[in-house]
Amino acid sequence: MTAFEYRHGRLHCEGVPLERIAEQVGTPVYVYSAGAITSLYRAYEQALDGMPHLVCYAVKANMNLAVLSLLARLGAGADVVSGGELFRALRAGFEPRKIVFAGVGKTREEIREGLKADVLTINVESPAELHVVDEEARAHGGRARVAFRVNPDIDPQTHPYIATGLKTSKFGVPYREARDLYRQATALAGIEVVGIHMHIGSQLTKVTPVADSLTRLSELIEQLASDGIRLSYVDVGGGLGIRYRDETPPAPGEYVRTLQPALGRLGLTVLLEPGRSIVGNAGALLARVIYRKATEGKRFVIVDAAMNDLIRPALYNAHHEIWPVAEAPATSGREVVDVVGPVCESGDFLAQERALPPVGAGDLLAVLSAGAYGFAMASNYNARSRAAEVMVSGERFQVVRRRESYEDQMVGERSGVEVLG
Ligand code: LLP
Repeated sequence: MTAFEYRHGRLHCEGVPLERIAEQVGTPVYVYSAGAITSLYRAYEQALDGMPHLVCYAVKANMNLAVLSLLARLGAGADVVSGGELFRALRAGFEPRKIVFAGVGKTREEIREGLKADVLTINVESPAELHVVDEEARAHGGRARVAFRVNPDIDPQTHPYIATGLKTSKFGVPYREARDLYRQATALAGIEVVGIHMHIGSQLTKVTPVADSLTRLSELIEQLASDGIRLSYVDVGGGLGIRYRDETPPAPGEYVRTLQPALGRLGLTVLLEPGRSIVGNAGALLARVIYRKATEGKRFVIVDAAMNDLIRPALYNAHHEIWPVAEAPATSGREVVDVVGPVCESGDFLAQERALPPVGAGDLLAVLSAGAYGFAMASNYNARSRAAEVMVSGERFQVVRRRESYEDQMVGERSGVEVLG
């Protein structure tokens, strides 16, 4: 389903005109389509039907409780990478035995939290971490179910900041060392080796690097079997990309079907960790134009959303489509503008040199494909309150996170500091 489309000249999310949300909730506001999230999740489910599997939604992409509980109710598992994400996932109702706990730098405390919750697997990324997991599991009086994240050293062909499967990356156990580490792990009293994990990068637009990595993992799985180490789970990570502009990534169903023969041959339970491909195009950031401004050779549209709300353009030079909420007549021309926020940095832009229909102060703009890594990466920079978040379902919507107040921003801080005398 298309979450955002024009109806009668007005941009809607499902059956709700975005103007109505802006009027009632204010801007900037993130808007999510429950219908789109549901159908994207189900696309994974349907494609995996007939094969033992679990789709573990990557909480990092969008951690709003309403998004999480929607997916939990649909039967999804969760992929978490911190104690905080684990806490949220449990609060949102994910079954602990459907949670996988990944991350290159889990602290002893976080590992304890994972063991206490009895998550499905702790995904270990180094020998040092393995020993902490072993110690903690023994102290806890049990064994930790462990999968190793193996780094296959394959180029995922994506932005360098979100490529994780090359040997120069900090992630995972080097492929060549993995077999030995598995052998060592089986000798540890606190460890039960149950799986193998990979995640080579994000916003992948081709299946080939994933398929190639899976081939490498399959070879390793065979070697392990010959060592007498039998696994139950193969976790192929997340990473499937979405269309922001003109990318042509496979749809989730197509992606899964391409990998299916190789996965089927392994005879293990398949875990996937999609984030962006479930929530990315199900969300938009709604902003209002505050001013227009022209300088020598530049036209700026200054809006009330900024890099603190959506950092992806500043951080990755990412492209997000921007559509006026009131549809421009087919006859209206385009002008080339920079869409910028109020933050005091020249890196604070949502779009540069973008051809948009003419917009003026007071107009609403929708920044599309912002459901993943949008609010999740928001900050209070410039003491800006974080945006509200709204969930739409059919003709109805609900605020699922109220806009932060100035007071909210200062919770936990104090101005009377005794040590200063
Ligand atoms: N599993 C692991 C171990 C991961 O590290 C990630 C993402 C995922 C799953 C989910 O990947 P997805 O399906 O969403 O691609 N902030 C960046 C993306 C960072 C992704 C980090 N890891 C961005 O805005 O593009």
